[in-house]
Amino acid sequence: MTDEITVVKCGGGLSAYRETICQDLAAAAAEGPVVLVHGGAAQLDELAAQLGVAQRRISTPSGSSSRYTDPATLDVLLMAMAGRVKPALVAALSRHGARPVGLTGMDAGVVTARRVGAHKAVLDGRTRMIRDDHSGRIHAVDPGPLRLLLDAGLLPVLSPPALGADGEPVNVDADRIAAAVAGALGRVRKVPPAPRRLARTLAAPGDDPSTSSTRADARHAESTHPTPQGPPSGRTTGLCGHDLAGQRAVRLVLLTSAPGVLRDPEDPGSLLPHLMVSRDSLGEADSRGGMTAKLQAARQALDDGVAEVVVADGRLAHPLREALAGAGTRIEKAAIVGSGSV
Ligand SMILES: Nc1ncnc2c1ncn2[C@@H]1O[C@H](COP(=O)(O)OP(=O)(O)O)[C@@H](O)[C@H]1O
Ligand SMILES: [Mg+2]
Repeated sequence: MTDEITVVKCGGGLSAYRETICQDLAAAAAEGPVVLVHGGAAQLDELAAQLGVAQRRISTPSGSSSRYTDPATLDVLLMAMAGRVKPALVAALSRHGARPVGLTGMDAGVVTARRVGAHKAVLDGRTRMIRDDHSGRIHAVDPGPLRLLLDAGLLPVLSPPALGADGEPVNVDADRIAAAVAGALGRVRKVPPAPRRLARTLAAPGDDPSTSSTRADARHAESTHPTPQGPPSGRTTGLCGHDLAGQRAVRLVLLTSAPGVLRDPEDPGSLLPHLMVSRDSLGEADSRGGMTAKLQAARQALDDGVAEVVVADGRLAHPLREALAGAGTRIEKAAIVGSGSV
């Protein structure tokens, strides 16, 4: 058994490898806490085509392009994620002995997001004001409900959409969900001694405040009564019975349909075992499209204190086991040099 939490993100393009991925995930979940985050762009496209809902992309003046999540697409997204991709993963994980619980970011407000406001973008070759795009950026992750599930030996299977401020679904990037979930699960609030506990500690100076009964009290109080004055992010809830004074070890594995990060995306032999990212750079790889999104998410996770971030091949016979044993690309944060010099 391990205390370390493993957050795995699995791209929708890996549906042909669902069985082997879930087999590995179930084996890992028998050893320690595992959270699965999934996307499903390919399944969304497929369902939209079946339902006759046209899929369009919008591009911003800065050149970035994204799915135009109009109201009809948002409906299809919910159906694809919660009705197709997730049940298939839940079924496969169950077949391999895990106890998965499917949820979108909306459930229990685990992932909250800010919807993009009205903005100018290019749609169908014309620059126009877009007002009904239901996509956005993650505002916060509340790790409390995930911790409750993990503490109960369950395996959360999480996907977009997130919950918007108006209580409506918001389409957010699944790599970003995985990064934010990993970061949030690693944060452990320092608990100042409660007056009663402090009194007890002062009365018995030999007592170690981190003894198991005290930790269990704190754990119970935290997971059942989130701090009311805490930020709406809920980032302060849950202790999961672990280190009171620091960060809990979390590793993030982004499984995708590539051997890892390639220096040259056209050359499968150009795998980079390590890649340094920094505030200003995503490293030496020529990354495009979906890989750029992954590296941005990886950088965010590292900034949030996630111990290990790996981009690895989901098409292998034992994708997670191999990723944790050194396959794929380890993303690292470049040290900041020369700060404060004149
Ligand atoms: N430098 C690179 N190394 C590896 N893959 C890359 C790179 N640049 C672009 N890609 C592309 O990014 C894809 C991964 O992103 P994406 O298609 O969004 O997958 P997922 O569904 O796993 O999120 C790869 O399959 C590959 O086609
Ligand atoms: Mg992607």
